[in-house]
Amino acid sequence: MTHPLASLLRSVPSFPDQLPSFAVDAAPDDPTALFTEWFTAAIDAGVTAPHAMTLSTSGQDGVVTARTLILKDIDEHGWIFASRDDGPKARDLGANPFAALTFFWPAVGRQVRVTGPVRKRPRADGEADFLARPEGSRASAFVGHQSEPLESLEMYRDAYSEATARLAEKPTLVARTWNTWALAADRVEFWQASADRAHVRLEYRLHGHDWQRGLLWP
Ligand SMILES: Cc1cc2nc3c(=O)[nH]c(=O)nc-3n(C[C@H](O)[C@H](O)[C@H](O)COP(=O)(O)O)c2cc1C
Repeated sequence: MTHPLASLLRSVPSFPDQLPSFAVDAAPDDPTALFTEWFTAAIDAGVTAPHAMTLSTSGQDGVVTARTLILKDIDEHGWIFASRDDGPKARDLGANPFAALTFFWPAVGRQVRVTGPVRKRPRADGEADFLARPEGSRASAFVGHQSEPLESLEMYRDAYSEATARLAEKPTLVARTWNTWALAADRVEFWQASADRAHVRLEYRLHGHDWQRGLLWP
């Protein structure tokens, strides 16, 4: 007997019983410092892929799309991610450079939300990121056609084998379409779940060059 989906959905907890506290008064001035603290705590708590985040974009037609990406770094340009520049997300960012990133770390009941404008980084950054990728990931980036309809799994496997062979022959090859982007955060929100539902939200907003902090109603 299978459970109806609705009751199954109601039966699963969102957070563990034990949750960390969030001392908002001791929060650092810069959201990157707090993100680094929370990221380290997520690793310590055993969160799988804490560097995975949802990137939400919208295109010229206003249609919103979201997908998971890996955060590569946070530097003076922003929150860095890498991808192909000939697929849907790149087209969206070309039409509307404003995007959002969302991290959810269930084991610690934490969410981080980031918004801001996105700019493509110079070609050299994309090349460096590509060369730092594991062999299999480099081959898959080489195949191309990402997010286009695929006739059969064999077709992809053949293209992947061909890309693997080309890279084995010349390991310094770089996919022309691989690029990095930086989201220059203007708002970063830290959300901490609490067992008594008094969830704590601290928002950093950029005013000029300064971050201002404030609590939000949960
Ligand atoms: C955990 C995880 C990490 C991913 N990391 C990346 C990434 O760093 N770069 C990327 O282009 N796609 C990544 N993907 C695949 C994307 O979610 C997405 O399928 C792909 O980029 C195509 O997106 P688009 O059609 O919106 O352009 C990842 C998927 C998962 C589940």
